[in-house]
Amino acid sequence: MKGLILAGGTGSRLFPLTQAITKQLLPVFDKPMIYYPLSVLMLSGIDDIMIIVSPEDEPNFKRVLGNGEHFGISISYCIQKKPTGIAEAFLLAESFLAGSPVTFILGDNIFYGHGVPQLIDDAQRNNTGATLFGHYVNDPERYGVAELAKDGKILSLVEKPTHPKSNIAVTGLYIYDEHVCEHAKRLVPSDRGELEITDLNNRYLESGQLSLSILGRGTAWLDTGTHESLFEASTFIQVLEQRQGLKVACLEEIAFRQGFITRDKLKARASFFNNAYGEYLTKIA
Ligand code: TTP
Repeated sequence: MKGLILAGGTGSRLFPLTQAITKQLLPVFDKPMIYYPLSVLMLSGIDDIMIIVSPEDEPNFKRVLGNGEHFGISISYCIQKKPTGIAEAFLLAESFLAGSPVTFILGDNIFYGHGVPQLIDDAQRNNTGATLFGHYVNDPERYGVAELAKDGKILSLVEKPTHPKSNIAVTGLYIYDEHVCEHAKRLVPSDRGELEITDLNNRYLESGQLSLSILGRGTAWLDTGTHESLFEASTFIQVLEQRQGLKVACLEEIAFRQGFITRDKLKARASFFNNAYGEYLTKIA
């Protein structure tokens, strides 16, 4: 299973914050936003990851994450020249995926909850076609919305519906089988000129190969697209970390616990940070 993160886009709702730097490198309390989706992939055991970025931001991502060696994983980069749709990721990543199934995550999605890695692991094992992850929201009209039958099967998927048929939003985390690039190649741009992820998912739905896994009450799916939601996400992480003394999405800690890096490598990395983050890594080591 390979990992793919889409981290380009315009971030226009966050202007002027995102005029000089991409949204996914903005801070969410004590880490750049990209740490959070990357941690989701690493927690599910994935160590071969491609990040799709805009041309201007590629050097900045490389400064922050490099080739992944600090985390004992492989990170490669691919450029999306213009943000022409989420599903374009699979045209850009075709040679990287090379016929492998993939766990795909948007670079501005933050998930938190005890059961999340297990749920992803189960979905990766049992995936036939594609698996989406749903989360209950108060304002479904802002998202892609899934309508479910009583037995949990997906009946329809609609992007930003005026009259939503449920409160289940489709999150930015997806698992696809080895045919995803073929499906993506057959998509045509929507009225807004984008290759839509909902159109890709509808192809799987039409062939009876789309499942939905619901992230329950014990999980948080945080939005970071507006100034208010970005601030709230930072506060959420701060409250959790200060109360527990444990970090969320600390990539070095996850790498160590997953066996991607040794204790000695963790100690070496800790000494690189002359601050509280480094002290935390030393404590973990
Ligand atoms: P959006 O939230 O749809 O767009 P955006 O982040 O550019 O923000 P705004 O609406 O404020 O302009 O994108 C969701 C995620 O997908 C986000 O991480 C950006 C990324 N993205 C790309 O990398 N390329 C694309 O072509 C699109 C449409 C999105």
